[in-house]
Amino acid sequence: MQSNNLTEAYPMVGGNDAYSYAQNSTYQRGVVDAAKELISEAIADKLDLKILGFDDTLKPFKIADLGCSVGPNTLLAVQNIIEAIELKFQRTTNLHQKPSALEFQVFLNDHSDNDFNTLFKSLPHARKYFAAGVPGSFHSRLFPRSSIHFVHTSYALHWLSKVPKEIVDPCSPAWNKGSIQCSESNIEVVRAYSTQYKNDMESFLNARAEELVPGGLMVLILAAVVPDGIPLSNSYVGVFNNILGSCFNDLAKMGVISEEKVDSFNLPTYNATPKELEAIIRTNGNFTIEKMEKLSQPRRRITANEYASGIRAGIDGLIKKHFGDEFVDEIFNYFTTKVEENYSIIEEKIRNVSNLFISLKRFA
Ligand SMILES: C[S@@+](CC[C@H](N)C(=O)[O-])C[C@H]1O[C@@H](n2cnc3c(N)ncnc32)[C@H](O)[C@@H]1O
Repeated sequence: MQSNNLTEAYPMVGGNDAYSYAQNSTYQRGVVDAAKELISEAIADKLDLKILGFDDTLKPFKIADLGCSVGPNTLLAVQNIIEAIELKFQRTTNLHQKPSALEFQVFLNDHSDNDFNTLFKSLPHARKYFAAGVPGSFHSRLFPRSSIHFVHTSYALHWLSKVPKEIVDPCSPAWNKGSIQCSESNIEVVRAYSTQYKNDMESFLNARAEELVPGGLMVLILAAVVPDGIPLSNSYVGVFNNILGSCFNDLAKMGVISEEKVDSFNLPTYNATPKELEAIIRTNGNFTIEKMEKLSQPRRRITANEYASGIRAGIDGLIKKHFGDEFVDEIFNYFTTKVEENYSIIEEKIRNVSNLFISLKRFA
């Protein structure tokens, strides 16, 4: 089994207060809503209950949500998946005729620093499943071999297991001075980030290939992919990261944070293109791609303030760890002002953002 302690972990803000992920993830909730129909279709059309051994046998149906965080989104996603599976059973087997014949076990996974206590307290009382928390990195094995029937992960796979070390090394040609992201002006930086992403995705796919039963399904919802053929700088992620990076540069010029701290800060995230993802999955070779398409946009518009709070709920821990607790409020206050100033650009990019839905089947 692979070790689970090499990953850098920056869980979302826990609890339920004003800065928490639970209170600041309505955009991601809209993505879960937008994926509901596609998940139902994947289950109706691609889940073969016979191959999974459910034709006449009663056993728990096991579902995992990876990178679940805290708050209503994971619970909503699980509910959508269970409803679709129940429908599938009703239509294709006799098992549903026995009351509560079908039992579900749901594994909620995130880094061990995730606020599982708040998550557990928010589980619905009248739920139709047995729930368990599974701490650890999804870049490694989390479950016994051939034990899971359906894997779901939403808005989590853009997190890398670590920042590639070359990009913070002043002696390396990949030193990423002056940028906090996969800056396309330096090919060595691009190579370092994309190699890290490929390695992480390969680890993710290999681990899931062992854990999923043959014929099991996996739904990946990828946040803000960079559309094929569009430069990063013109995509939503590129524009957003530049605004965030400019905040650090401004605060360093004002003497609030040190230039050295700014130079050594890089986001441990990478937003791939659909082509890159497809190539990684095909090279891995453990899954068939059943569907890969852009998700429709969440309908609800968010204000500049909601947007800034949502970003804080996602990266507060990361900023604190690098710059120190004492700077975090000033950094985010400045960031909020910048977001307000640039909101028309950000909003236009969010409106056209490409979230990607991929359904995969483990080779039977
Ligand atoms: C933006 S949140 C998404 C939460 C939820 N899935 C949703 O759609 O609202 C991303 C989550 O992925 C988790 N995450 C990132 N890398 C991870 C890893 N290697 N293993 C497990 N969880 C990870 C983070 O801790 C975070 O809780």
